[in-house]
Amino acid sequence: MDDGKIFYITTPIYYVNDIPHIGHAYTTTACDAIARYKRMKGYDVFFLTGTDEHGQKIQSAAEAKGETPQQLVDRVHQKFRELCTLLNASNDDFIRTTEERHIKAVQAVFRQLMEQGDIYKGTYTGYYCVPDETYIPENSMGPNKTCPDCGRPLTLMEEESYFFRASKYVPQLIDYYEHNLKAVMPKIRYNEIMSFLKSGVHDQSVSRTSLKWGVPVPGDERHVVYVWFDALVNYMTAAGYLDDREKFARYWPHVRHMVGKDIIRFHCVIWPLMLIALGADLPVEVFAHGWWTVDGEKMSKTRKNVVDPFKVVNEYGLDPFRYFMLREVPFGNDGDFSELSLVGRINSDLANDLGNLLNRTLQMIRSYRGGKVPGSPGKSELSEMSAAILERYDTAMNEYAFDVALKAVWEFIGRSNKFIDETMPWKLAKEEAQSSRLDYVLLNLYEALRFTALLIAPVMPDTSARIWSQLGLEGEPVKMMIDAFRWGDGEGAAIGKSEVLFPRIDIEAWKEKRKMQEEAAKIPHEPEISIDDFKTVEMRVARITKCEEIPKSKKLYKLEVDLGYETRTVCSGIKAFFTPEELTGRRVILVTNLKPVKLCGVESNGMILCASVKKDGVSEQLTLIAPEDENIPLGSRVS
Ligand code: MSP
Repeated sequence: MDDGKIFYITTPIYYVNDIPHIGHAYTTTACDAIARYKRMKGYDVFFLTGTDEHGQKIQSAAEAKGETPQQLVDRVHQKFRELCTLLNASNDDFIRTTEERHIKAVQAVFRQLMEQGDIYKGTYTGYYCVPDETYIPENSMGPNKTCPDCGRPLTLMEEESYFFRASKYVPQLIDYYEHNLKAVMPKIRYNEIMSFLKSGVHDQSVSRTSLKWGVPVPGDERHVVYVWFDALVNYMTAAGYLDDREKFARYWPHVRHMVGKDIIRFHCVIWPLMLIALGADLPVEVFAHGWWTVDGEKMSKTRKNVVDPFKVVNEYGLDPFRYFMLREVPFGNDGDFSELSLVGRINSDLANDLGNLLNRTLQMIRSYRGGKVPGSPGKSELSEMSAAILERYDTAMNEYAFDVALKAVWEFIGRSNKFIDETMPWKLAKEEAQSSRLDYVLLNLYEALRFTALLIAPVMPDTSARIWSQLGLEGEPVKMMIDAFRWGDGEGAAIGKSEVLFPRIDIEAWKEKRKMQEEAAKIPHEPEISIDDFKTVEMRVARITKCEEIPKSKKLYKLEVDLGYETRTVCSGIKAFFTPEELTGRRVILVTNLKPVKLCGVESNGMILCASVKKDGVSEQLTLIAPEDENIPLGSRVS
């Protein structure tokens, strides 16, 4: 393989203090699309993801859950592995920072920097944001000494600490960025980083004595390595920094990090300064994507609007989700996640544009040519357009402009659908003299689909494979080389079995269902109880033997209830729904161990179970609960 065609791409490693959300799914999907694209362009790709498992955040989360940090990370990291599987991510490695290979690498890096005098011991005093695990410089604090990022109160801390001599290498980094204008992307982030660097960078505290859950500092185990120092090294560990120098030499010079915009200072300032100190190559590029809001609001646990990728994929399918995330928002910008927009894209782009093109084309090849793709020499408008589309697509994919790349593909799909309307193959099929024209139309449509399947493969690998098989083609499109595509090669193929790619979602029914779900979410629920709690409620089968009005009450009846072994008096607020005649003789379920209460002067010794529909706390509809089997004896226990 040509050495220039090596591509090493990383996601950030995810904190395991909580379960995955769409923000995590987003970075992984974007990296996966790029990794797949590069492989289809003949690159040797190494795609890394993983979990960040040390530090205060994790220790606090474990304490809150009554687990050891190890138990917590072992449990939650599994969810991130499952996320990779869910997303069909093609990562080549999954690193955990608690793995031995990583701990050794962090200690080796720390030791080297210490030996060369780039890490020294000192005292650190500063305002610390515990949840964000970062000291906040006084000039950046929010009002009342709060964290400028998360708004939470800061804690004044003083501790002995090791420091990384970051300041020493700042001029070198500025020089690097001045000569590598695309090393931080998009441009707005580059500018942000440059002005930050030029405003000066302090030496960085890189160890903690205040916590135990971390990598021990080599030679001074009272300290653990600061979680960000530890985490950033993961990119080197997995590339074989310690245990596979050949692999490291191969991939490291081609490393690119994809991160959210919130963590660029760590990736574009601290990390490259560490790398300069270590004498290692700097990342070719750090690309910062934007943040997702949900229905216009910031995603947060307190707002209860955190979107669970497992739920979304379960409901709408994986590829629609992948497509939506990469198509909806220019990569680098913030975006808003709304299920309605997702449903809109499924119906218009996927079911209508792509699904119809496939259906109509295959159906015509089946009806007019017995399922065999005809030949037809020469160029067509579609074949010429495909070359221009590919160029736009490649440029966009290389810039991570997924939305632009997908727009280009859908422009092509749109043109192909129009080609059907214009050429009217159903008319051509009726005239013998138009037979070669019909061949031309059908071949070109088939080729348009074969081409489309290849281009969507990085973003929608599964859909692409389904189209491929319906086209009657062998192998998997994700394993094909995009540039090996030749217009016309599809001639002679026997098409496969057709199936609907994306069923249309009935918007009205969908809205109705959503409304019901929203209503259901509003239903107040009682807190969880144990089976033993439940067993304390005694319920038995009984029969109403007498029903009388209570003169003072509008709602209550005085009932005499037979339990087989005794008879009781019970007051029940069901007067609005039954006449005494309707109730007398009815079998019911009675709660028998409720404390007696006096209601309108009558002592009530139990409660009859009913199901009811309430509006504003008032029952609108009510029914008695009774055993189905007429023969079950009175007094039988309900459990
Ligand atoms: N552990 C660190 C990264 C260390 S990398 C050496 C971390 N983890 S994180 O789990 O908090 O965040 C991981 C990524 O998810 C970040 O890139 C962050 O930007 C991204 N997102 C978190 N919430 C997000 C959205 N609402 N939208 C998009 N991405 C978001 O930071």
